[in-house]
Amino acid sequence: MKIAVFSARPYDRRFLDEANQHADAAHSFEFLYFDASLDIHTAALAQDCEAVCVFVNDRLDAPVLHALHALGVRAILLRCAGFNNVDLATAADLGFFVARVPAYSPEAVAEHALALVMTLNRQTHRAYNRVREGNFMLDGLLGRTLYGKTVGIVGTGKIGLATARIFKGMGCTVLGHDPYPSPAFESIGESVPLDELLARADIVSLHCPLTPDTHHLINDVSLAGMKAGAMLVNTSRGGLVDTQAVIRALKSRHLGHLAIDVYEQESVLFFQDRSGEIIDDDTFQRLMTFPNVLVTGHQGFFTVEALQEISGITLRNLGDFATGNTCPNLVTAA
Ligand code: NAI
Repeated sequence: MKIAVFSARPYDRRFLDEANQHADAAHSFEFLYFDASLDIHTAALAQDCEAVCVFVNDRLDAPVLHALHALGVRAILLRCAGFNNVDLATAADLGFFVARVPAYSPEAVAEHALALVMTLNRQTHRAYNRVREGNFMLDGLLGRTLYGKTVGIVGTGKIGLATARIFKGMGCTVLGHDPYPSPAFESIGESVPLDELLARADIVSLHCPLTPDTHHLINDVSLAGMKAGAMLVNTSRGGLVDTQAVIRALKSRHLGHLAIDVYEQESVLFFQDRSGEIIDDDTFQRLMTFPNVLVTGHQGFFTVEALQEISGITLRNLGDFATGNTCPNLVTAA
């Protein structure tokens, strides 16, 4: 069976090939790797393939799904947990098998959220450059002791829970908000309504999925409800945050720090080398001018362990598609 792998970076090839070598010999999978992301212009690359394997910024809207279906593609393998980039209703109408990787090292993303908080709080990114230039002044590097601070976790699922455990271990008070609170969270922190979490937390970390309900969950009103000087961390999905509202809150000095691994318009920027180009996105460029903003390019998942799990589970999902076995990781329209 041939599978067109879109948005394929060298590390995707390495880990998928390794998993394929260990796969059940009964299935022979041939991966065709494409650097291009999937959209209506690149869908034709999946010619002769029964499946496509995609990542967060590949676009599987109705026109793309119809184009893939016309080519004979019948399965969509997501190398990620989120599936907000797939038109599931159209996929169901066309009879697509859609499977994802629901969990892969939640700790990898939680640890990245911690890395962002620690970097921004203690300015280690600036200290690194400063010391290399022979400047040992401490001015501008002043941080806050995190011990005893209050951290609000929005979405106490797998990643939120792992993040909550880390901050609890650091001696922070942990608050959580989730419409379906996990019992495991109750032993770590206190479940509170969102407005109370925003009002009490020194650090707010977002770990809920992007849905129509959570789109721009962080907006002018919710930002105004946050503690003055607080830090906002988003390692979940860019669309949770209204970036223009965040810029207003940074300019008014109400929002103290912003750390993001995801950005609403990231699909035209992230996972590409744009260093020699002019970036047209003025909103992103405005964010870059703030000394109290830290951006990474969607690398929360990026550990050896997580990539091994993603590839292994993707191969198992493919095996279920090939054999017709029940796949535990199917994604269906609500
Ligand atoms: P999960 O499904 O285990 O947990 C999500 C939680 O959010 C659930 O408990 C759900 O009830 C809750 N939730 C839903 N609506 C909510 C709302 N309105 N307010 C508060 N909570 C709400 O998902 P998991 O594995 O923890 O992943 C969370 C998100 O992290 C994913 O949706 C994905 O967007 C993002 N992610 C980011 C990665 C990165 O590399 N930066 C990698 C993997 C996931």
